[in-house]
Amino acid sequence: MWQMSLVRWVLRCRQLDAVCFSLQGNKAILRQISSEGQFDDVLSDTEQNKYLREICSIPDCGHQVFVIQPQVKTGPNRVSHLKAELKLDENCALVETLPRWNVVNKAVVPLKTPVASQIFPPGAFTRLTQLITSRPDISAVLLGVDRLKSDEFLKLQQAWAVPVFDRYTIVLQIFKDHAKSKEAKLQVALAEIPYIRSRLSQIEMGSYDQQTGGVQFAGGTGDTFITVRRQLIQERESKLKRILRDLKNQRGLLRRNRQRKQIPSVAVVGYTNAGKTTVIKALTGDSGLTPRNQLFATLDVTAHAGFLPNRMMAVFIDTVGFISDIPLDLINAFSATLEDAVLADVIVHVRDISHPDSAAQCDDVIRTLKTMLSPTQMANIIEVCNKADLLTCNHANNFHNDSFLVSATSGQGLSDLRNEIQDVLIQSTGQLEKTFRIPMDGEHLSWLYKEATVKSAEPDSDSEHLLVSVVISTAAYARFKSQFSTNREK
Ligand code: GTP
Repeated sequence: MWQMSLVRWVLRCRQLDAVCFSLQGNKAILRQISSEGQFDDVLSDTEQNKYLREICSIPDCGHQVFVIQPQVKTGPNRVSHLKAELKLDENCALVETLPRWNVVNKAVVPLKTPVASQIFPPGAFTRLTQLITSRPDISAVLLGVDRLKSDEFLKLQQAWAVPVFDRYTIVLQIFKDHAKSKEAKLQVALAEIPYIRSRLSQIEMGSYDQQTGGVQFAGGTGDTFITVRRQLIQERESKLKRILRDLKNQRGLLRRNRQRKQIPSVAVVGYTNAGKTTVIKALTGDSGLTPRNQLFATLDVTAHAGFLPNRMMAVFIDTVGFISDIPLDLINAFSATLEDAVLADVIVHVRDISHPDSAAQCDDVIRTLKTMLSPTQMANIIEVCNKADLLTCNHANNFHNDSFLVSATSGQGLSDLRNEIQDVLIQSTGQLEKTFRIPMDGEHLSWLYKEATVKSAEPDSDSEHLLVSVVISTAAYARFKSQFSTNREK
């Protein structure tokens, strides 16, 4: 009986009770997902989102988390203690980024003998199990690994009797919370589908103990339930992909429009929290930008107009931040929005030079950029070492000689950076810097104001001509010459 075919998703968050779903709910979701509405339908699919939070053990009341960083001490994957500590700090920061999630305990667990088929050797595992099961204030564990396999999840959750998360789940959850635009929300929704599939596989492998935040089948056939869910997910995935494809085409149109108007673009990329938004705000004076001390504060690629010293207008593109070991599914999901960055005329890489792991963060960003950019683009990246105001002597050798040391908050170094962006833009967009001697009373000046960037206009010594300095595209320069062939170029 369908009524009996209830599935009880029991979450072990101490404040949460069991939640039951009926197949009626499934049908409602199925109807919603398969309807041919616009993407608002997909996003307002609250029941689906509720289900996702439950299947992923993400309760509204948050979690009290024990963060564990495994540190392999021998072999080719050996990690130094300092590196493991920094990774632990980053994982704690990720947890604290989520509303109502708190870190109640943290530890680096050294592994002398990494065991390929297990995460922890038996001794370390027993010690951790004793600690976790004796601490009622721990409601979840974050294991500082990129991604756990289904059987690993099962084993750990069964032993520890609390939900266990990997970095992927946490980053995904932050992305979900921070996505503002429809496109970002849709991308996150698409990125979580492989995760849901793997969770369904866990359920199929054997429902886990209800004390652990897992699920069990309370009547009816589990197979039917899983088949329906798989079908729902399949349909949701196709619909999300279709809508995202349409949005991508629209973005392409906007970009081509910008290119037609010959407005040069500057993509600002970098590790999360490095200060990208703050640098753009300082360069453009865009008061609408609100930088936040949070990981992944920016998930939407946004464009902000600003003027360079020669009065040339440029569009600065803010992009989603990078993080080490960023799960590939998430990168893929955001690759569409990063396209704007890839096609920008200049790329500015903002680093937090005051961060203890700044060099490793830089390597992570460069490694990812290399998969997206051509060697010529890579060679033209402007490296910005931000947060210079926080520098101490410990950071002295932390940056490359050709990088720009700035503080987006104090303004230090920004003027040199503006000049550099301008020079690279002029080179990369084939713009020319010219000075024309034109008649005072002709149409020349208004033409130049319309088609080029006028840097200055001064009367010549004869008082009948103007000396006009401009930045002009090669195409506009050719048009100017053919239209006003008698002008005299200085
Ligand atoms: P994501 O969107 O998470 O990728 O971050 P982001 O790289 O855009 O960083 P954002 O500009 O939001 O800044 C992160 C934090 O660093 C904020 O609290 C800023 O105020 C701070 N910050 C940015 N630049 C500077 C700086 O030059 N000096 C200091 N002291 N703080 C800075």
